[in-house]
Amino acid sequence: MNKKDGKVFVWPICTRIIHWTIALSFTASFFSSLNKSYLHYHVAFGWIFGVMLIYRIVWGFFGPRYATFNTFKLNFIDLQWYFKEKVVNRWRKIPAGHNPASSWYTILVLFFGSLIVVSGAFLYGIQEGSGIFAFLNKEYYMYMIEFFDIHLYVSYFLFIWACIHIVGVMIEQFYHKTNMAFAMITGYKKAEGKDSDITPFGNIASYIFIIVSFVSFVYIVSTYDNMVTRSIFTPIDFEQEYKVYYTDCGNCHKTYPPYMLPSRSWKRIMKDLDNHFGEEITEANISKEARTSILTYLTNNSSEHSTNKVAFKLMNSLSKDEAPKAITKTDYWREIHKDIDPKIFKSKKVKSRAYCWSCHEGFENGIFRNDKISIPK
Ligand code: HEC
Ligand code: HEC
Repeated sequence: MNKKDGKVFVWPICTRIIHWTIALSFTASFFSSLNKSYLHYHVAFGWIFGVMLIYRIVWGFFGPRYATFNTFKLNFIDLQWYFKEKVVNRWRKIPAGHNPASSWYTILVLFFGSLIVVSGAFLYGIQEGSGIFAFLNKEYYMYMIEFFDIHLYVSYFLFIWACIHIVGVMIEQFYHKTNMAFAMITGYKKAEGKDSDITPFGNIASYIFIIVSFVSFVYIVSTYDNMVTRSIFTPIDFEQEYKVYYTDCGNCHKTYPPYMLPSRSWKRIMKDLDNHFGEEITEANISKEARTSILTYLTNNSSEHSTNKVAFKLMNSLSKDEAPKAITKTDYWREIHKDIDPKIFKSKKVKSRAYCWSCHEGFENGIFRNDKISIPK
């Protein structure tokens, strides 16, 4: 390596790519989680974040000098000394590679980052019935709230942790002037020690890994039916599955998936068809036999029998005997949609708050995916 004045070459380009991909993918996943309809992107960012964490862990064993865990300074005495020196000696000399604070920082990022990725993948499987762990939905859907909390709070923690890191780097950069921030761009740091080195094999292997990760990321973003985002919930063709329901109840509005309400609600709705939201449905419209058969179909497939998150969350929000006549009349529904301007529901494209399919693509076929939410303009 070409030696520069008082500077040591600490971070080869692969290390810098890992560092920035981890930082940017975490930031992107954090902010894409703020809007439900970006879930697909959120998962794709989480994927590349996870892949890069694995790569960083491997790098910690087989990587170049300064990246490996055995060069980390994890002794508490060192950590104390580091902060003491920081205060008393602005121009102290620092060794190249990780200082005690950044060693601890990195270890915790790897630990909590992995926890976020794993809890996120489980949550996506359990709650959304999607992704690598989609098969867990059927048995473990009732734990969706717990997994959500773990995923959420550990992510907040890591976000704050990353902000502390940035402040620390800025102090090194501008107060101690060790060029720490730019070192992750140029590779050179003002420090003492030998230059880093990387074997040609390590170099080639890491470039292949980086390219494969980026290609997989683009693939996940641009497709739905892939291993990382595939859903077990496939569209139901009600006309095929149960024609009477499709023709008799899909007349004035599209068909509502039966999992949207509990049995007791369906019983109420079918009993009160002569006053159905202001419409009178007579036996000439829907015969007595058809009513009995529709009710059986609806109660057999109601919320109680579904592992869909809409069913689970609705049931969770209702008291034992509450039998809402419409999902739009529940606190659960109102709470989720409270930020939407009421005018939007009356707009030409949406028509009514009961027309879920206007904003939730595929709802009339029983599909509910957060990445299929869009308010028509
Ligand atoms: C004559 C027309 C008509 C027919 C037939 C009809 N509905 Fe409706 N339905 C309506 C109207 C109108 C609303 C109210 C929509 C709104 O609030 O904008 C409604 C609302 C609903 C809702 C409430 C949606 C929500 O959460 O706000 C459900 C559930 C429902 N219908 C189920 C059924 C079922 C089951 C059948 C078949 C037995 C059926 N409907 C047949 C006209 C009809
Ligand atoms: C005007 C468009 C619009 C209509 C109509 C609408 N929704 Fe929504 N819905 C949204 C938006 C936007 C969100 C995301 C809100 C947020 O970011 O928290 C949402 C969120 C949801 C969620 C939350 C999912 C979760 O992650 O927990 C459920 C469930 C839902 N809607 C069900 C329905 C049902 C059922 C209907 C019909 C009775 C309906 N919505 C009608 C726009 C709409």
